[in-house]
Amino acid sequence: MTDISFSDRVAIVTGAGGGLGRTYALDLAARGASVVVNDLGGAKDGSGGDASAAQKVVEEIEAKGGRAIASHDSVGTPEGGQAIVDAAMNAFGKVDIVINNAGILRDRTFAKLSVDDLEAVLTVHLKGAFYVSQPAFRVMKENGYGRFVFTSSNAGVFGNFGQSNYGAAKSGLVGLSNVLAIEGAKANIKSNVICPMAATRMTEDLLGPLADSLQPECVAPMVVYLVSEACEYTHEVFSAGGNRFARVFTGLVPGWYAGKDAGVSAEDIAANIDRIRDEQGYIVPMSVSDEIGVLSEVLKSDR
Ligand SMILES: NC(=O)c1ccc[n+]([C@@H]2O[C@H](COP(=O)([O-])OP(=O)(O)OC[C@H]3O[C@@H](n4cnc5c(N)ncnc54)[C@H](O)[C@@H]3O)[C@@H](O)[C@H]2O)c1
Repeated sequence: MTDISFSDRVAIVTGAGGGLGRTYALDLAARGASVVVNDLGGAKDGSGGDASAAQKVVEEIEAKGGRAIASHDSVGTPEGGQAIVDAAMNAFGKVDIVINNAGILRDRTFAKLSVDDLEAVLTVHLKGAFYVSQPAFRVMKENGYGRFVFTSSNAGVFGNFGQSNYGAAKSGLVGLSNVLAIEGAKANIKSNVICPMAATRMTEDLLGPLADSLQPECVAPMVVYLVSEACEYTHEVFSAGGNRFARVFTGLVPGWYAGKDAGVSAEDIAANIDRIRDEQGYIVPMSVSDEIGVLSEVLKSDR
């Protein structure tokens, strides 16, 4: 197996002043990447800010002989996103890798969710990923190389009690990553999603006895692989936690075709629901065209 190296690569890791992002930044820098360590340094709910969070990680990297700069801009505005990419361009001349990791939590049951809790969470996770990734994508397209990781969550892809704002933002990131994978393909830009599970300040009240086995360092290898040249995959989602790594995917089952001229009623759907739901023979579409391909085959069978 060849070593995975990042010499001559420039990486941006958002929210890298602590938790998971810090472990990604340290691993990439140890493998030769020049890293922009971005972190607003706020509290878990997004309030406040402290420039020392990113700076401390930069000092850790430099103490081990690595190259890094700190960025304290918020991902949550277009100006902040542009400033993070500009920082990479000014210090290192390009951007090869973006790990969208910054995040906050404002958990409430849906009935009690306020507009503020919705806006704050969508802004940091979902819009923040747009604001950082768009200027970076333009640079990568020009250079013919790029790697994105977007941080979703099992709460986003599977659902979790009390996390409607967070779950919506996190599943939105899967949609964003899939489109970048498609739009970036010609320029050798790959985009994938991580659903991490780790004991950090974000999960300190949630994981119970599992926390001891879920160090953030156990997620980093998957993320580092996904942003490396060794990774041939794009448009995929991976779960990682406690040293278990697993693909997550959205499948399309063969379903039930009623026939071209069948007048289908709700009762017919009820009668065929088992076939409509049957998981045998599913495919994993890589774009809308894949489903259109399936549909045109089915329709052809009737002609
Ligand atoms: N820990 C888990 O089990 C888990 C599970 C699923 C998803 N995630 C996701 O992983 C990511 C990292 O979370 P973590 O667990 O390391 O928590 P964390 O709170 O330690 O890390 C999040 C970091 O993002 C920074 N941040 C927040 N708002 C920012 C902004 N506007 N601009 C720049 N930085 C900002 C914070 O200061 C913090 O350092 C988050 O996106 C989180 O939603 C974590």
